[in-house]
Amino acid sequence: MLVTGAGGQLGQALLEAFPGATGLTRADWDVTHPAPSNLATDCCKVLHAAAWTDVDGAEDDPQGAAAVNVGGTRHAAELGVPLVAFSTDYVFDGTKRSPYVESDSPNPLSAYGRSKLHAEAAAGERAWVVRTSGLFGWTGRNFVAKMLELARERDEVTVVDDQRTAPAYVGHLASAIHDVLELPFGVYHLAADGDCTWAEFAEAVFAEAGVDCRVRRITSAEFGAKAQRPAYSVLRSERGGPTLPHWRDGLRECVARLAPG
Ligand SMILES: NC(=O)c1ccc[n+]([C@@H]2O[C@H](COP(=O)([O-])OP(=O)(O)OC[C@H]3O[C@@H](n4cnc5c(N)ncnc54)[C@H](OP(=O)(O)O)[C@@H]3O)[C@@H](O)[C@H]2O)c1
Repeated sequence: MLVTGAGGQLGQALLEAFPGATGLTRADWDVTHPAPSNLATDCCKVLHAAAWTDVDGAEDDPQGAAAVNVGGTRHAAELGVPLVAFSTDYVFDGTKRSPYVESDSPNPLSAYGRSKLHAEAAAGERAWVVRTSGLFGWTGRNFVAKMLELARERDEVTVVDDQRTAPAYVGHLASAIHDVLELPFGVYHLAADGDCTWAEFAEAVFAEAGVDCRVRRITSAEFGAKAQRPAYSVLRSERGGPTLPHWRDGLRECVARLAPG
């Protein structure tokens, strides 16, 4: 098993869920280039977690995002072995008000979402394309870490309350990949059970961490992010993809792991 993006939050979790897998950081393989020649014969499956994940940054450099997400996935597929490619709820436009299933038509609102949709195609025929949402874990830059960092500096944070999703704990997602590998190739939605807005999620972060910080609910328009995000992007599987445990359980595990000592 080969794990790309091994320094990222999902890559780290995959290395724990697949003991013995070989992790590749950007220093080992910059996926915008074809793989180093010795990799092609060494592995039986690739868990491709390397990606451009700066959603707002992709608006300024869509070609850079495409080089990593589309080119990188194509290069991973060119290894000629079965591939797990990770994709996103941001391939949808968020106009639905019931969960998105695999047969729903994508319509990305952002350069990042477009790059990930093209990346799905670049994964080829021998791939499991795993769409997931709102990843958080014990390493890297993510919403949970950001909220706890802000709470150390202030007693109120402003968080958008008009984007609803099902945030997935990387530990739960990585474990569920064992089940995905038993399914036929194709697209699968893997999200946490339950759903919430980012403001609701922030309140839960502070409650779980025992931190005293208020959440002021604002709109996406007030927040003014560069990239447009879907207002509703809860994912569910109609194809037998596993549902992850509830996001609140994932959050509890994550906060426990982040706690000092
Ligand atoms: N984060 C989310 O909320 C979310 C939601 C839905 C889907 N996903 C998808 O889930 C997957 C994993 O995301 P994540 O949250 O684990 O992201 P992450 O923490 O940002 O990790 C991405 C990893 O990819 C590496 N990388 C970037 N460019 C590279 C390149 N040219 N060559 C090799 N490695 C490169 C990064 O290395 P550096 O540290 O050196 O940049 C980083 O280690 C991605 O496919 C992402 O699109 C994420």
